[in-house]
Amino acid sequence: MPPAGWVLAVLALAATVAVALYWLLVSTEGAYLGPRVVTRLYDRYASRYDRVKEYDERYERHFVGEPVARFLAERAEESSQPVWILDVATGTGRFVQAVLQSDGRDTRFVCLDSSRPMLAQARQNLENIAAEGQVVFLQHDAATLPFVDNAFAIVSCLEALEFMPAPLAVIVELVRVTRPAGLLVMTNRVGWQSYLFPGRRYGREQLADLLRKHGCSYVSITPWQVDYDRVLAVKDPAPAAIAQGDWPEMTRCSRCTQAAMVVQEAGLRCSHCGAEMVEVNGIWQLS
Ligand SMILES: C[S@@+](CC[C@H](N)C(=O)[O-])C[C@H]1O[C@@H](n2cnc3c(N)ncnc32)[C@H](O)[C@@H]1O
Ligand SMILES: [Zn+2]
Repeated sequence: MPPAGWVLAVLALAATVAVALYWLLVSTEGAYLGPRVVTRLYDRYASRYDRVKEYDERYERHFVGEPVARFLAERAEESSQPVWILDVATGTGRFVQAVLQSDGRDTRFVCLDSSRPMLAQARQNLENIAAEGQVVFLQHDAATLPFVDNAFAIVSCLEALEFMPAPLAVIVELVRVTRPAGLLVMTNRVGWQSYLFPGRRYGREQLADLLRKHGCSYVSITPWQVDYDRVLAVKDPAPAAIAQGDWPEMTRCSRCTQAAMVVQEAGLRCSHCGAEMVEVNGIWQLS
């Protein structure tokens, strides 16, 4: 090959590598490099996240806070117990903020995320909005949720499924831990950028069918942001037992999935495999 040919070949190779790296690290935020890479990238992004996202409070209330408040109001007479809500991939606490700004009821939240700095930012953001003890922060992967079946009245997962290796398995987990007749609040990636996530994107009808197949009804998918639709669904009522009590009683070991976690002096412990969960600086994690 003449020298000019070599130069062109090297330039083409370098451009291909640059495009591939940009897709892997920037466009898809590490989604195809595994959950550890995604988490590390969010660890580094945590302090800038809110500034970059600039969520509009009015839209947050309209699309998230108010539907949740309506759902809670309709079920207010069912129980005088506080309502437990799980927010998976909570990020900096956006979902909890929207709910608390729209509803004054006695709600409690478990905010789960794999990134500790994102949880720390959520904790800071919610400090003056939530009451003492109203929110539990839990560092954990969404793939196996550490809770018993039918634990939460409402389960949410916003702007996160496409970053996980098996989104459908996570959807099945979200439905599993939602109570019968409980509400599921999710997002579905749409727009041209969703095509950058092969194997992780769902068409609207496809997602609605999947949710129905996995035990949900009243599926409603509404355009929300440029990149995301809002998805609401209600878990089908079933004669299954409903978990009662506060959050430690609702936990299940995610290592062996065989037993509930039991409260001990040092934290929570699995009676089957001995896995432990401890609280470090206000954030719970597997030890
Ligand atoms: C785009 S942010 C969305 C945060 C928040 N739900 C919101 O709407 O602002 C994605 C979040 O998902 C979390 N995440 C990504 N993969 C995860 C996983 N496998 N398990 C738990 N959290 C995960 C990241 O740490 C990050 O906080
Ligand atoms: Zn166990």
